[in-house]
Amino acid sequence: MKNLAQFVQALPKAELHLHIEGSFEPELMFEIAKRNNISIPFNSVEEVKAAYKFNNLQEFLDIYYAGANVLITEQDFFDLTWAYLIKVHSQNVKHVELFFDPQTHTERGVEFHTVLLGIYKALEQGEKELGISFRLIMSYLRHLSEESAFETFNQSLPFKDLIDGVGLDSSEVGNPPEKFEKVFQASAEEGYKLCAHAGEEGPAEYIWGALDILRVDRIDHGNRCLDDEKLVERLVKEQMPLTLCPLSNLELKVIQDLKDFPLKRMMELGLLVTLHSDDPAYFGGYMNENFIETAKAIDLSKEEIGTLMKNGFEASWLTTEEKEKWKVEIDAFAKEY
Ligand code: ADE
Ligand code: ZN
Repeated sequence: MKNLAQFVQALPKAELHLHIEGSFEPELMFEIAKRNNISIPFNSVEEVKAAYKFNNLQEFLDIYYAGANVLITEQDFFDLTWAYLIKVHSQNVKHVELFFDPQTHTERGVEFHTVLLGIYKALEQGEKELGISFRLIMSYLRHLSEESAFETFNQSLPFKDLIDGVGLDSSEVGNPPEKFEKVFQASAEEGYKLCAHAGEEGPAEYIWGALDILRVDRIDHGNRCLDDEKLVERLVKEQMPLTLCPLSNLELKVIQDLKDFPLKRMMELGLLVTLHSDDPAYFGGYMNENFIETAKAIDLSKEEIGTLMKNGFEASWLTTEEKEKWKVEIDAFAKEY
């Protein structure tokens, strides 16, 4: 396709799988570390970037949690989120549904409200000044206990009007969905929407568990559904969204080559798949790079890219009217192009 980059840039986009701590660019990490007087084990931005070579999810998570250690004040969380919003505004992202990991910070003694309010105030300002609508998802860390997730859940209740949903992330294998059945049920009863990482490194059974035990509205990643025909049938029938992250999968060795990214097969099967960036500061790409690199590797057509963009809005937690508005705009633009 001619002008692939221009086409991807111009289309309105929805980012649904983004860990705000994973958008922490090394330049800002150094700046915040300095002002908080915290030392980090690197001498330069180049040295940090050179360390971003991962063989699996855990190797990445160890570095990701270490990076988050320099975030202390509400201003730090505001600056982190604001930098992210400025970046994605330049990529024509119109709607974001972002994850934050409260326990990564509360475990270090940072208060829940410090984290939440820093992020939330930046999102509010982004909506006003940049026209980016948003939803906010509080993610439980699955390597910690359900009791710890419940503490986080309880801390969130005074602020529940600011939080739209809960997620489940961190080390997947060995931490199956059923470990969090009760806290997900309690979260649903409080009106939170539900999603969970499943089938990134973990097996297809974890996706069944996310559906039947956690009763999620959306699956994050979900690649491993392809191992189980009955599961694919179910996901297609329910049009359960799968938020895929190609550059993340490549960097964490979920796939060995972007050419192996099974997106076309998933689309042909009728799965509701969307493309996102996961942890863009660590994996070398925000929304546009994920679309462009994938499109090049597996030769996506203009129509397929348009469908993926529309799927992003369809899978979001926007109202039906808002979804429709964006899908009409995408269709109109793609037809003209
Ligand atoms: N936390 C941040 N990025 C993650 C990923 N890709 N999988 C699980 N937990 C995460
Ligand atoms: Zn993720």
